[in-house]
Amino acid sequence: MRAATVIPGRPDSAGLDELPDPEPAEDELLVAGLLVGVCGTDLDVLHHPGAGEPPAGRERMVLFHESFGRVVSAPPDSGFTAGDLVTGVVRRPDPVPCPSCARGRWDLCRNGRYTERGIRGLDGFGAQLWTVEPRFALKLDPALGELGVLTEPCSVIAKAWEQAEQLGRVIGNEPRVALVTGAGPIGLLATLLGVQRGLDVHVLERATDGPKPDLVRQLGATHHDSFDSVDSAHLDPDVVIECTGAGEVLFGALRRTARNAVMVLTGISGEAAHVTVPGGAVNDELVLENDLLVGSVNAAFHHYRQAAEALAAADHEWLRQLITRRVPLGRWTEALERRPDDVKVVVDLQG
Ligand code: BGC
Repeated sequence: MRAATVIPGRPDSAGLDELPDPEPAEDELLVAGLLVGVCGTDLDVLHHPGAGEPPAGRERMVLFHESFGRVVSAPPDSGFTAGDLVTGVVRRPDPVPCPSCARGRWDLCRNGRYTERGIRGLDGFGAQLWTVEPRFALKLDPALGELGVLTEPCSVIAKAWEQAEQLGRVIGNEPRVALVTGAGPIGLLATLLGVQRGLDVHVLERATDGPKPDLVRQLGATHHDSFDSVDSAHLDPDVVIECTGAGEVLFGALRRTARNAVMVLTGISGEAAHVTVPGGAVNDELVLENDLLVGSVNAAFHHYRQAAEALAAADHEWLRQLITRRVPLGRWTEALERRPDDVKVVVDLQG
């Protein structure tokens, strides 16, 4: 089989490898990989030493963690049968396990010894065949078809919304208005889930042309291209889902929240990013308004389920517009290029 492989931290290493077909263990599913989605983490794995880690004893690894495939074979009584459409879970619990991993909340791993497919210590899903244990696979609604490739990024956002709601209740947050910062795939999925919750959702996204502003408006949300526009709308957001990782945006949004607001950070800035922060004002805003600031990464199994349900309930025509570019496996490295109108780029593993 062919696979998209890299040496983590070596930008010139991205290549197409011919690898032996994987042999599923007795308790594993064998899956034909159909699509993978490309995300910023994949670029980080390739470019930044330390962002990714190959499986023990190896230099190269199979890349990609946003998966979509069709079951080829499944153990009896696994709950899966050949032909099922599935996505694989990214993270595996640490071997200790820590108290979080022991209760299935590997996304909240306490000791940091978790592994992640295509990112840290395990091969990813960018291969024509992959294996997975049934408890780390989610069966998808066939009506969703290829849109199932959006399940993993949506699971990350399902967790962010759950954090906003569960933690917000503790401080008396009753969400009405939400601000989402960024309209990449994560920001757009955050907008979708906010609209599905019946909230008045506003999206801060610098771009004024290209597909993003229109995708925001199609959901019935409001697009703002600057903080000036946010200010003139007098939003007072009760919830902010931050999806840029850009310091100026993050702290700018934090200073504009309502009282008892929750802000969930989902973006990565990278160690090299330095911003000047009005520290005193940020402190006073958090303290005097009882605001809650929380970071959120990865997703537990129930978030994948919530994501699949949210996607199934969404307008599939809208979801289809998120996939703006499709690259065949034979030319997969082109999928790593960032083009102006890209939202979600996918690699066709059978192409
Ligand atoms: C993935 C998460 C992962 C995180 C850090 C994100 O792109 O969606 O599943 O935990 O990167 O590795």
